[in-house]
Amino acid sequence: EMMKELAGLNEMEMKIQKRFQLQQVVVVPGNSDESSWVKKELGRACSSSIKKHLVGKNIIAVTGGTTMAAVAEMLTPEISQKSENLFVPARGGIGNDVENQANTICAKMADQTNSQHRVFHIPDQVSQQGYKAFINEPSIREVLQLISSANIVIHGIGEAMAMAKRRNTSQSECDKLIQNKAVAEAFGYYFNENGEVVHKLSTIGFQLEDLMKTKDVFAVAGGFSKGKAIQAYLKRAPNSTILITDEAAAKGILKEI
Ligand code: F6P
Repeated sequence: EMMKELAGLNEMEMKIQKRFQLQQVVVVPGNSDESSWVKKELGRACSSSIKKHLVGKNIIAVTGGTTMAAVAEMLTPEISQKSENLFVPARGGIGNDVENQANTICAKMADQTNSQHRVFHIPDQVSQQGYKAFINEPSIREVLQLISSANIVIHGIGEAMAMAKRRNTSQSECDKLIQNKAVAEAFGYYFNENGEVVHKLSTIGFQLEDLMKTKDVFAVAGGFSKGKAIQAYLKRAPNSTILITDEAAAKGILKEI
């Protein structure tokens, strides 16, 4: 705590919380672009914050990405001492990057905390026809039902173009993102610098409407490179958001645009 005060982190936490009207903000020292231990610290900070919010029965929806993987690493069985938790993936997976898929992360989170989890076996992007067939599958319906009744969400935030690249997005769709000035991405939605949705993947699972009625939303993202993306996303984020970020991103979040 004393270190945090010296670095002015507490002040940054307060400023961000006020400016974007968030439930809570935690800023860890450093820049997760540069050192992997800072990403681990984001995971640790998220883990200890979640612990304080878990009572009774919870359905926890989680997204993918390397930051979420770091959160999973840092969760401990202590979390389930006073609560019964079910982890569900917020959405389908991305390409073949199995390690960072929501399904894998969910299983890991359940494993680390002696909790239950469900898997969601569908591609991240499906056709209209495929969509209709999928949502009528009983096993899919069950998971979809759980996802939309999640009372807790843990999600990552990415830079729009970095995410488009990771998803092997077609040139024409990339052009559309550039044209619409997309800067941020979270759970399949792309946002411009004003926090307006400019593109959305046709995915089954967690939707922006679901986010608005979720009791506690943990948004975990850091690194100098993500400052602008996080700032944009926060303009749209619900007041239930608990932001876990790092010092380098926090500076970008507080920059005027
Ligand atoms: O693909 C899942 C996801 O949570 C995206 O919504 C987000 O933009 C990205 O991962 C963040 O990934 P990382 O933590 O690896 O930067």
